[in-house]
Amino acid sequence: MRPQRLQHPFPGGSLAWLLLLLALPGTAQGSFEVRVSPEAPMVEHGGSVWINCSTTCRNPDANGSLETSLTKTDSKSGPGWAAFLLVGITEWVSAPQCYFTCGGDTKVAAANISSYRPPEQVVLEPLPEMELGRAYNLTCRVLNVAPVTHLTVTIRQGGRTLHTETFQNHTVIKLDNRTVTHEVTPRRWDLGLEITCHAALDLTPHGPHFKNSSSAVELQEAESLTAKIIAISAIATISATLLGILAWGLAQWHRPWREARPEPGEATPSQANFEMAQASIEDAPEEGGSLNPAEDVSP
Ligand SMILES: *[C@@H]1O[C@H](CO)[C@@H](O)[C@H](O)[C@H]1NC(C)=O
Ligand SMILES: *[C@@H]1O[C@H](CO)[C@@H](O)[C@H](O)[C@H]1NC(C)=O
Ligand SMILES: *[C@@H]1O[C@H](CO)[C@@H](O)[C@H](O)[C@H]1NC(C)=O
Ligand SMILES: *[C@@H]1O[C@H](CO)[C@@H](O)[C@H](O)[C@H]1NC(C)=O
Ligand SMILES: *[C@@H]1O[C@H](CO)[C@@H](O)[C@H](O)[C@H]1NC(C)=O
Ligand SMILES: *[C@@H]1O[C@H](CO)[C@@H](O)[C@H](O)[C@H]1NC(C)=O
Ligand SMILES: *[C@@H]1O[C@H](CO)[C@@H](O)[C@H](O)[C@H]1NC(C)=O
Repeated sequence: MRPQRLQHPFPGGSLAWLLLLLALPGTAQGSFEVRVSPEAPMVEHGGSVWINCSTTCRNPDANGSLETSLTKTDSKSGPGWAAFLLVGITEWVSAPQCYFTCGGDTKVAAANISSYRPPEQVVLEPLPEMELGRAYNLTCRVLNVAPVTHLTVTIRQGGRTLHTETFQNHTVIKLDNRTVTHEVTPRRWDLGLEITCHAALDLTPHGPHFKNSSSAVELQEAESLTAKIIAISAIATISATLLGILAWGLAQWHRPWREARPEPGEATPSQANFEMAQASIEDAPEEGGSLNPAEDVSP
């Protein structure tokens, strides 16, 4: 102590002295501090954590205690500190309080314990076959996760981010489900690209950083009207070819047997017609739906 400072001649000097008194720990009764460490731990739901209460009080009689509804199963102590093991933490938020008594004065500090659970499931809803240029909703569900204040849900297509959503305002901490939707209007170049949904639960610096993702879905084009018309014309071609074969066959029926026999090396007419039919089928574009003539021709 430097009592000469009390006679400080300058105005504001006594205030400076008061501030010095407050800043110097343990110099007078009631000026000790109580700290809790860690201050804001993130604990896995059902997990456990050591909470260390400490004080700047120099009095060796000073002993600490922790007041909480959570289950304490172990404790340790040393000069100026006491640590407690809390187990089976299933409360989403809890604030155990550390008490220290020093020279008849009691002070308290609270720890803010949050428990978390990484998403149990990240599901991207299956997509219908899509018509190009029409709007559809991609829907991603993140199930049984906490706390959503630390959750980020991202929908990606190929390497590109389509949509990102956070839930910082949802401050009621509990186990939660989150649904994220994003509207897409597929173009031809989107077809075949993989769409995935990603959930990140970032608890740093007080806990881990979880990253989960859904399985991928692909944008697939529905059978369009043009494709249907092409498919129908393909069937018509086949039918015409079959009629041709039939007509040829009927014509042969009325011709003398010898004339009907093909010359050596000449393809039989039925073979030639079959090849024509095949060519017509192969000419039909890929999106012509079923390429199996048996399926298309049968009623
Ligand atoms: C705990 O949370 C309360 C209110 O949310 C806050 O006032 C207090 O400062 C926090 N304590 C610590 C140690 O973070
Ligand atoms: C508790 O904190 C005090 C003061 O920071 C430290 O000296 C002591 O080793 C800690 N105890 C445990 C068990 O971590
Ligand atoms: C602190 O000390 C007092 C008296 O010395 C005792 O009654 C109390 O149980 C002690 N508390 C802890 C947490 O050890
Ligand atoms: C998410 O990741 C965590 C840790 O990697 C894992 O425990 C959890 O089961 C995962 N959830 C899903 C839905 O894959
Ligand atoms: C997609 O979802 C949003 C919000 O739920 C809705 O406003 C919109 O009409 C939906 N779009 C389609 C194509 O269903
Ligand atoms: C979250 O809350 C703040 C303040 O209450 C507000 O300004 C902000 O728009 C909210 N954000 C969302 C996404 O609702
Ligand atoms: C989340 O959704 C699943 C499936 O619909 C349901 O079983 C579960 O109870 C929901 N969880 C919460 C916290 O609402």
